[in-house]
This record gives sequence, C-alpha cells and structure tokens, in this order.
Amino acid sequence: MVEQLLKTGGVKLRGCGSATPSRSITNAELGLRVETSDEWIRSRTGIAARRVIGPDESLSELNGLAAERALAMAGWSADSLDLILLATSTPDDLFGSAPRLQARIGAVNAAAFDLTAACSGFLFAVVTAAQYLRTGAMRRILVVGADQLSSWVDWDDRRSCVLFGDAAGALVLEASDPDEDDLAGFLLRSDGRRGEVLQLPQGAEHSPLVGDASHQRGGFQTIQMNGQEVYKFAVREVPAILDSLLNTTATDAACLDWLLLHQANQRILDAVADRFSIPGEKVLSNLASYGNTSAATIPVMLDEAVRDGRIQPGHLIASSGFGAGLSWGAALLRWSGPA
Ligand code: ACO
Repeated sequence: MVEQLLKTGGVKLRGCGSATPSRSITNAELGLRVETSDEWIRSRTGIAARRVIGPDESLSELNGLAAERALAMAGWSADSLDLILLATSTPDDLFGSAPRLQARIGAVNAAAFDLTAACSGFLFAVVTAAQYLRTGAMRRILVVGADQLSSWVDWDDRRSCVLFGDAAGALVLEASDPDEDDLAGFLLRSDGRRGEVLQLPQGAEHSPLVGDASHQRGGFQTIQMNGQEVYKFAVREVPAILDSLLNTTATDAACLDWLLLHQANQRILDAVADRFSIPGEKVLSNLASYGNTSAATIPVMLDEAVRDGRIQPGHLIASSGFGAGLSWGAALLRWSGPA
C-alpha cells in the first residue's frame, strides 16, 4: 500500500498530447475474423472500433508524436526535461524503450526509464513523477503511457480480441509550490495473488544449453484473460479506492468536474459513476473509437478532452487506473495547463 504521506512541494500539469494509429478496425470487420457481431461488442463493452499499428507505423513513432505534442502545449523544449517515464507493457526493447524516446525527441538532459504496471501504468508513473518533483530533485518530467497490445492479443480468441487497441498519450509535469499542487491525493494498490486472471506470461519452452543444463527460451505467450473475474475486480475495487481517496482528501464527489477512468468497458465506467451519483455528462469516454489501449487510455482521453475544451484550467478530475498485476490506483488531479 502506498499513500501520500510526505509533501514538501507540489506539481503542475502543464501539457498533454496523444497519437493513435491511422487504421481503424470496426466491429463489423472483426466479425470477418472471429464469430462476433457489432451488436454483441457494443452492448457488452461500448466499443465500436479500435486502432491497430500498421506496417508503416510504430509505437515508438506514436510515443514521439504524443510527447512532442505535450511539450508544444506546455511551450517547453525537449532539452528542459529532467526525466522521461514511459509506462508500457509492450516495449520495443526488453531493456527499455524510454531511452529511445529520449533520443527521438532530443531530450538530451533527461534520464529515461520504463515502468510496467499494465493498464495502471500511466497513473503509477504520474505518481512516481510527482515524488521526484515534490522533493525538489527534478523540475520537469514527461510521462508517456503507451501500448501495442495488438501484438500480444490472440486474434482468434473472440473473448479478448474485441477489447484491445494501440495508442500513446503523454503528460508533462512541473515542480511547484506545495500550495499550488495539482495532485491533491493518490492511492496505489497491487495484489499479485489475483494476477492469473489477466496475464501475458513468458513461454515455458527450454532448450539444451550444455551437459544436463538447459535454458528457458525468451518469448511471450498471448494475453490470457478471465473477463468475468476482471470485470468483478474492477467494479469492486475502483469504487472502493475512489471512495478512500475522496475521504482522505475530504472531497465531495459532487465537486468533481470529471471522472477519468481507465477505458476498459463502458459498463465499468457507468457502474463506477452510478456508485458516486456522477452524471453521465461528467464521465469521460472514448471507448467507442479506441477500445482498451492499456497504459494509453487515460492520457489519450485527457488530451482529447483538453483539446476540445471540455477540461478547462482549474477543473478537478478523479482518475483511476486498473488492470493486470492485479494493480489499481486513483488520483485526484487538477488541470492547470500551460503557465
Ligand atoms: N462475440 C460474441 N459472443 C461472445 C464474444 C464476442 N466477442 N465474447 C464472448 N462471447 C460469448 C461467450 O462465449 C458466452 O457465450 P456462452 O454463454 O454460449 O458461453 C457469452 O458471450 C457470454 O460471455 P461472458 O464472458 O459471460 O460475457 P460478459 O458479459 O462477461 O462480457 C467481457 C465479456 C466484455 C470480456 C467482460 O467480462 C469484460 O469487459 N470484462 C473486463 C475485461 C477487461 O476490461 N479487461 C482488461 C482489463 S485492463 C488491462 O490491464 C489489460
């Protein structure tokens, strides 16, 4: 359990950006591959289409575009960044993709590393970034949430393949005085005992090495998901953690401008909103266009709502990420925008 205990400085949310693949695949198109229908997918999930990275695109390219758009919104040059955190479960390189992103955008003064917490990754990374900023160790940090789950989905498994898509989203944060803090509170949770309900495990194949020794071959299987258990986990834990967050920050749900949840399933968004009597017009959702893009859903949704003017400077946002691990978290955020 990690809670906000020490606060010597604050953080400001200064800019956001996103990038999605060009190819959209509709439910009807997926029906040509697996036995499903637009009606089934829409009514069970709210998803109408998802984006999939094609041969002329890459997740690295989307990461770079999302990052550059966030920097442009904030009016910052890449060389002013102190740190890049890349939340992803699908790196191009198992040694880490964040340094490639650093090179791509020219953030020559930034340290860069990957952080893996599946669909909770973006929220976990924002909270991690805030710790460096609050201690005064760093001034400017780029957080990117990005995933290419299309590479790891079993496209012949209709129970899971209809849910996922690819995208990248970015947020830039700056150190501030403690009384001007855009991160009003947070809670993070993990429970590895329940990890088997949603996993992407290594293959178990061994190859001869020398004598009687063998080594495990690298490589992963495809996404394995017990959809009903994941659903039950989400509708139980997300309201519980948001309730704790609102209590610890003495915040009335009626004061929230927006509910910004990980975009996994419209029924999950509706169930959480109902629990707090939050009206539908305050619940941000772009599931219909993108499906579940894992670590990218929250920053992509944030970027869309900031750019179309729904989210305004000063707005209060309750956010929650949840997914494999199992992991889940919640944060109470205020959007400031460019200084
Ligand atoms: N098209 C048509 N029929 C389908 C499909 C499909 N794509 N998928 C399953 N079905 C069938 C099943 O085979 C089953 O048929 P049966 O009764 O003859 O066996 C029937 O539909 C009902 O299946 P359920 O699994 O009970 O459907 P449910 O209502 O639970 O919906 C869903 C499934 C949408 C996956 C839901 O459980 C869900 O959204 N769970 C959460 C999943 C999730 O969000 N995962 C990501 C978490 S985030 C992360 O970290 C990656």
